[in-house]
Amino acid sequence: VNERTAVAAPGGRQAAPDLASLTAPVRDEMERAETLLRALLDSPHPFLRAVAGHMERFRGKRLRPAILLLSARAWGNGSDLACELAAIVETIHLASLCHDDVLDGAELRRAAPTLNAQWGTQTAVMTGDLLLSRAFERLAQFGDLRLVQALGQVGRMICEGELLQIGSRFNPGLRESDYLALAEKKTGALFGAAARLGVLAAGAGEADAERMGAFGRHLGCAFQIVDDCLDVTGVEASAGKSLGADLRNGELTLPVIHLLRTAEPARRTELLELLQAGHAERRHHRLRALVASSDAVSYALGVARRELHSARQLILFLPPTAAREALLGFPEYILARSGSAE
Ligand code: FPP
Ligand code: MG
Repeated sequence: VNERTAVAAPGGRQAAPDLASLTAPVRDEMERAETLLRALLDSPHPFLRAVAGHMERFRGKRLRPAILLLSARAWGNGSDLACELAAIVETIHLASLCHDDVLDGAELRRAAPTLNAQWGTQTAVMTGDLLLSRAFERLAQFGDLRLVQALGQVGRMICEGELLQIGSRFNPGLRESDYLALAEKKTGALFGAAARLGVLAAGAGEADAERMGAFGRHLGCAFQIVDDCLDVTGVEASAGKSLGADLRNGELTLPVIHLLRTAEPARRTELLELLQAGHAERRHHRLRALVASSDAVSYALGVARRELHSARQLILFLPPTAAREALLGFPEYILARSGSAE
């Protein structure tokens, strides 16, 4: 699914908003954040500059900066600090992707070779470390320990989420609640921080910042569920990234957990065999077929819808502005990504 194209929501509902219209209320701030991000990635060293330049090729959707800046605007105004924080949050996200592609053994991201595919694991790991350090170095310049602590906590949660995921590889006993806890840590935490820091930068108090944090965490969880559905059902050419990594690495995602829970004994035995190491392509092919002939994806998307409903409820308290409307449109946007999953 092209991220800039509005896609009819499953079930024939109204077409989902596209990202350009969602971010319209903060277009200027998005551009300022982009300039700051470029400065954070840049380096006078030719090799480091080449690596940063390459990362431009897997330029993402900038969802986290968008959520941060819209939250700031929905609360008050888009301050300079909000733009700085948007660039920092995206830098942390990019750092995590450098490491994620190493852990997943992924070769492709946004139709470009990953850093590990292009330059090897060492470069990918060190680039992730470099970006993370740069983000915190910049953050410290604002002299606000609350911000440093908030993002330090997020870094810890992302790493805990990834480590827990590694620790549960090939574990058929992984429960839905375990999976949701993982998704909240590895993806929800940074989405939550984006919404939370946005309103904090605009002067909100702790209680409202916490509500925004919960909004972002639900949004992030739903985003991860949709991403995991696409990992099983998506088409590599249109996703622009390596798919099937979850299965190859023995990582159980929500559709598979649901299949295991509901399959009849013979099917369950086959599934358990598929989840053991073996020929990756054959296993992926068969798993896709099993998922496609079951209700696993619609079940998982139902859970994502529940998360998105909770997210919307949490921000109804915001004053009625274009930025609030845009934030309320994010759930539909995230679900629309799943158009090719169902
Ligand atoms: C994407 O998951 C990856 C994450 C949400 C987090 C990855 C984090 C690490 C590897 C730890 C390093 C952390 C920091 C802060 C540097 P995915 O594989 O499901 O998504 P994908 O399909 O886009 O690869
Ligand atoms: Mg990955």
